[in-house]
Amino acid sequence: MNDFLIAPSILSADFARLGEEVDNVLKSGADIIHFDVMDNHYVPNLTIGPMVCKALRKHGVTADIDVHLMVKPVDRMIGDFIDAGASIITFHPEASEHIDRSLQMIRDGGCKAGLVFNPATPLHYLKHVMDKVDMVLLMSVNPGFGGQSFIPSTLDKLREARALIDASGYDIRLEVDGGVSEKNIAEIAKAGADTFVAGSAIFGKDDYKAVIDKMRTELAS
Ligand code: DX5
Ligand code: ZN
Repeated sequence: MNDFLIAPSILSADFARLGEEVDNVLKSGADIIHFDVMDNHYVPNLTIGPMVCKALRKHGVTADIDVHLMVKPVDRMIGDFIDAGASIITFHPEASEHIDRSLQMIRDGGCKAGLVFNPATPLHYLKHVMDKVDMVLLMSVNPGFGGQSFIPSTLDKLREARALIDASGYDIRLEVDGGVSEKNIAEIAKAGADTFVAGSAIFGKDDYKAVIDKMRTELAS
């Protein structure tokens, strides 16, 4: 695995050609596929569910699928995504009544588990479950839509999360989601992120490889 992972969000892909879009972005150098699940309840938008994840696996996608659940309740979706071929499942702690149990369900299903923090959600939810988390995802926009601007206070929060992760001694990835582009990725990496979700910055361009290459150059700078 690369030290830095680039995770295109298919929220900004052309859904009418989703299999082809995922193939193209992986051929262009993406590491994993970020899969945004919205329920028009926890967030004010409605997207895709386990059937689409399963369809991507059937299409032949072997890369890790990073399922970001923006749904409430959480638990009833977990089993469906495990069966559909998810690799990583993250959820928002405020959306789960039983955070420890939800994390355990994900791991018991053979997937990596993670918690997602909205811009104003404190990191204290991590305190008692650090040993059950494989990924911490910090939202750098309010969830629900692609194409929003990166919220600058996320940089401080990334530093805080990085310190918590390093102090824990556990192998936990630190992902950032929202408004990430080739222009700010280096600064975001310096604040401690190692996994970068980018939707509009990649799918909004014609040449996916050029953007991803540029992101890698910036990360190496
Ligand atoms: C927002 C989603 C993001 C979104 C990012 O709720 O979780 O994954 O697709 O899109 P950009 O990169 O365009 O901000
Ligand atoms: Zn997301």
